[in-house]
Amino acid sequence: MNQFTTALSNPNIALIKYWGNRDERLRIPSNGSISINLAGLETRTSVCFDPTLPQDTLTLNGAPAGNAARERVSAFLDQVRVMSEVRSFAAVVSENNFPTGAGIASSASAFAALGLAASHAAGLQLSEQELSRLARRGSGSACRSIPGGFVEWFAGDSDETSFAESFAPAGHWALGDCIAIVSQAHKSTGSTEGHSTASTSLLQDTRIATTPRRLETCRRAIINRDFNSLAEVVELDSNLMHAVMMTSQPPLLYWQPATLGIMQAVQEWRSGGLPCFYTIDAGPNVHVICLENKIEHVAARLQRLPGVLEVRTATVGGPARLIVQR
Ligand code: DP6
Repeated sequence: MNQFTTALSNPNIALIKYWGNRDERLRIPSNGSISINLAGLETRTSVCFDPTLPQDTLTLNGAPAGNAARERVSAFLDQVRVMSEVRSFAAVVSENNFPTGAGIASSASAFAALGLAASHAAGLQLSEQELSRLARRGSGSACRSIPGGFVEWFAGDSDETSFAESFAPAGHWALGDCIAIVSQAHKSTGSTEGHSTASTSLLQDTRIATTPRRLETCRRAIINRDFNSLAEVVELDSNLMHAVMMTSQPPLLYWQPATLGIMQAVQEWRSGGLPCFYTIDAGPNVHVICLENKIEHVAARLQRLPGVLEVRTATVGGPARLIVQR
């Protein structure tokens, strides 16, 4: 029997957001972004190329995946087949220890782990930069889950120049993420569809033109461990992305009443002296970033807010890594 190669990766939360592509097929983003990997939340993916398979297969959290997910994975594996000598189909088995499709970027860790496991299973030895570029082709934000710690994705203007790199290791600053889950439902408009409508918003051009400034402020705040500057720029950037979403055609309203309640509570807590800030992806759940030693305190406060079903916590995570060598 052929052996499976297994890789593990963490999802990431963007502090400066990726929203909109200048090249949809290659997933070259309209703007650069910054994120942190989330240790404690994991995708574990095993890949085995098997000449006896009539097609690629995908098992997701213990059950056969639907056609759309399988086709997206298969198209990604085609990239790996083009890059390598391998021509056979693959069996892919993937597990998440967190809910899929509700604002925790499952596609990021999914394609980071798949890219690492599949390229290794195909006999390729890719550099971190090459792996980041490969993962980007599966899901843009996945390129940021390849390197560890505090990561910047350089937008670039071609396949070769669009990749992510770490600018500070996970141990640089002990931050925590308390994810307030207000809905476990799969979002109705996924990110891929959302990116394609971003340019219909009157606000998108302004958001893109001003992103370099926010990237600089965010990078500097992280390097200097300046929590207040980070809080301000991250909330602003999240609000800007949601303003674009809300003013696109068709409008995308990802927030639920509980989402707004959490945003307001977090701002009150910060004014009251508790260092914390929010950021929200393409879903209703709210990521509340705090110092690692305040995780339990912030999580307990969040748990008491109306509409919060569950709170997941994470610390700053490392790079995508292989679990079983071939
Ligand atoms: C709102 O990377 O999920 O989370 O490339 O189509 O898979 P695809 O999109 P994806 O978009 C992420 C959007 C975001 C912001 C971010 O993570 O930067």
